[in-house]
Amino acid sequence: MHDVRLTQLNKSYTSGVTIIPSLDLHIPAGSFTVLVGPSGCGKSTLLRMVAGLESVSGGTIHIGERDVTHLEPAERGIAMVFQSYALYPHMTVAENIGFGLTIAKKPKAEIDAAVRKAADVLQLTHLLDRTPKALSGGQRQRVAIGRAIVRNPAVFLFDEPLSNLDASLRGQMRVELADLHRSIGATMIYVTHDQVEAMTMADQIVVLNKGHIEQVGAPMDLYRQPLTPFVAGFLGAPSMNLFQGELARGMGCDTYGVRPEHLEIRLDQGRWPATVHHIEHLGADSVVYADVRDVGSMTVRAEGELDVRVGQTVHLSPRAGFDHRFAGGRRLAT
Ligand SMILES: Nc1ncnc2c1ncn2[C@@H]1O[C@H](COP(=O)(O)OP(=O)(O)O)[C@@H](O)[C@H]1O
Ligand SMILES: [Mg+2]
Repeated sequence: MHDVRLTQLNKSYTSGVTIIPSLDLHIPAGSFTVLVGPSGCGKSTLLRMVAGLESVSGGTIHIGERDVTHLEPAERGIAMVFQSYALYPHMTVAENIGFGLTIAKKPKAEIDAAVRKAADVLQLTHLLDRTPKALSGGQRQRVAIGRAIVRNPAVFLFDEPLSNLDASLRGQMRVELADLHRSIGATMIYVTHDQVEAMTMADQIVVLNKGHIEQVGAPMDLYRQPLTPFVAGFLGAPSMNLFQGELARGMGCDTYGVRPEHLEIRLDQGRWPATVHHIEHLGADSVVYADVRDVGSMTVRAEGELDVRVGQTVHLSPRAGFDHRFAGGRRLAT
């Protein structure tokens, strides 16, 4: 197990475009760290620099005690799993998993043992003789992860590995990856634009925005105490209601936020009268979109099946102590 330390790491292209201005980050040994941010914010660039697939413009990368900034990918003790997990179609699952070891000319007995162990962890043992075309999407992705496992890396790097899978399979793979992390205990750095993956799998989340770090912390700490309006709006679904202008000023700040699940909805009275313009019944809960005059749309999430109609007037109130105030782009102490 190794930690990873990025110090004043930056990346610019010769065209003059700066992707990552200067980034400092510590990834604890054995952690499952998720780098999350919108598309184009520099996640893949950052991960590829750690992997050695992309040169750095400045700064250093340490894996454990070693400065790996200028080492070849193969010398870094890492293994990477990508979104597009190109498997060799003519090879069996076992051959695909063991391919890196075969190339490295490891003895056959050693390769077989490593493949069996990885297949066991990933529940692929019964599929070892199949070719990729006879596998489901989730099974193929597990084979790609198996290829990484057999190399026994100190650090696993994942770049949006679940993005090509359908929603139910993504949910299942999230659980499997978390189990995998528990069973092998290696340091894992996982990149995604999906805040649900970040919230559910990470023990440390790093929120990235335009190549800089907005906040680092445990998922529920970021959910409860977002430091910036960006983090507040990015984590949590449906997104936090965020308001500037008069409503915020009335609350003593310049950006006021309240999560949909922290708004109370009542028919008789409340802080903000609002007109319902859309309702989503999700079964376990209901999401109501209501217009507050001169403010805009507010999203409310209520448990169970809420009995309101489009066009109806309701009253919304923030739950005391669960709202968020920001000024100058930073969280105000409550
Ligand atoms: N070779 C390049 N030259 C200039 N800009 C690039 C190059 N490669 C990627 N970029 C830009 O870098 C930014 C970050 O890209 P990327 O790291 O792939 O983002 P993410 O993985 O977060 O979606 C994007 O705006 C992308 O257009
Ligand atoms: Mg990317």
